[in-house]
Amino acid sequence: MSVIPKKEKYKIDQNQLVKELRKFIDEERFQDDEYIERIKARLNEILEENYKKQENLIEVLHEVQGLIGFIPKYVQKEVAKGLDLAPGEVSSVISFYAHFSEKPKGKYQIAICKGTACYVKGSVDIIDRIKKEYDLKAGESTDDGLFSLEIVRCLGACGLGPVMTVNGKAHGLLNAEKAVNILQKYENNQM
Ligand code: FES
Repeated sequence: MSVIPKKEKYKIDQNQLVKELRKFIDEERFQDDEYIERIKARLNEILEENYKKQENLIEVLHEVQGLIGFIPKYVQKEVAKGLDLAPGEVSSVISFYAHFSEKPKGKYQIAICKGTACYVKGSVDIIDRIKKEYDLKAGESTDDGLFSLEIVRCLGACGLGPVMTVNGKAHGLLNAEKAVNILQKYENNQM
């Protein structure tokens, strides 16, 4: 007779969670009494459902990213513990996939393609210009939280290269000047 493994009861530490979220999230969000409760309860559920299921790592990270909007360090450690993985394995998956992030993404999420077709048509110039213009690094957000930047491999619109998307909307046949003009429109609520 097979023995059903006992599920671990998870208890995300509320103080640690709040401490971590406060580094990035507006104080206003914490006025909603249920905000932290909701996140904590769902995290506990996710970890219980996936107890020691290492093969579910990507799925778990998707859920956490969707739940909080990013995957804070403390939560990464808990995911590693719950799935019985080394913390380094979790953080390397997060840094490998542009979809996941350790910090909140900007209001406008920019993705610029550095795949071959876009690269040969000058996407690096666009990336450099945007980084300079907004003092922005790949994988990070501007201090005001308006823009975040991801460099991606192919956006599936190679014929329109160089291509960038802003919150999923594609803008093609770009050069550095055009890309900055488009972003200024987002900045001024004209898009
Ligand atoms: S290489 Fe850029 S969209 Fe395909």
